[in-house]
Amino acid sequence: MSSTLRKEYLAAMGLETWSLRGPAAAASEPVAAPLNESAPAVAAVPREAARRDEVAPGDAAAPREAAPREAAYDWPQLRERVAACTRCGLCATRTQTVFGVGNLQAEWLVVGEAPGAEEDRQGEPFVGRAGQLLNAMLRAIGLKREQVYIANVLKCRPPHNRDPVPAETMECLPFLDRQIALLKPRIMLVVGRIAAQNLLRTDATLGSLRQRVHRFGASDVPLVVTYHPAYLLRSPAEKRKAWEDLKFAREVFARG
Ligand code: URA
Repeated sequence: MSSTLRKEYLAAMGLETWSLRGPAAAASEPVAAPLNESAPAVAAVPREAARRDEVAPGDAAAPREAAPREAAYDWPQLRERVAACTRCGLCATRTQTVFGVGNLQAEWLVVGEAPGAEEDRQGEPFVGRAGQLLNAMLRAIGLKREQVYIANVLKCRPPHNRDPVPAETMECLPFLDRQIALLKPRIMLVVGRIAAQNLLRTDATLGSLRQRVHRFGASDVPLVVTYHPAYLLRSPAEKRKAWEDLKFAREVFARG
């Protein structure tokens, strides 16, 4: 991707780039700084030095046992089962289920928390304001929305966008597990604390989960965590860190 194009995408994320002057400039990528932010610019850290990866043994997220009923489903069957689901109380308040969207051959799987109001209306994940930012985040690392697959931990909107409760995630996660098994992504980009904690089965903070390679499921899919775009809309100063995470994910993917 040309640097002009990348700058356009970063601008769409609400970031502008600046480059180091002097000899270190050649060794580092442009660093993104939040627009309209009064905080001083961060020191540019060489990419290798900034990388902390490969988690300790035991930190891999073991696959949940996909209940046998999900494990046999193909894509159309799974979509049908999700659409008809009444396993938790959210079925009473949803307009429709939000299954997931994207390329069934995608190498990247993006996982969010749960549909919001707009997603509940349209039946597609990440179509509201957070979705627009997610699209810009993906474009910033050279990915079109159509190239990836996007799904949520929950397939139904929790009323008033409240956090999912454990019983809801427990009932719903087997659907996502089956989506992952069918898709076989090469990398998972998990956005937000709730999705990360549920997929990695941890109470760890988002700050401690980002900038590391986690592994998911029996096939050890690399999993990278970053901030939720809705959070970034509320806290634009954090976009700089999200950009670091996106570059990190791109490196992890490139390493294979
Ligand atoms: N937030 C999410 O986590 N998922 C969506 O689909 C929309 C907003």
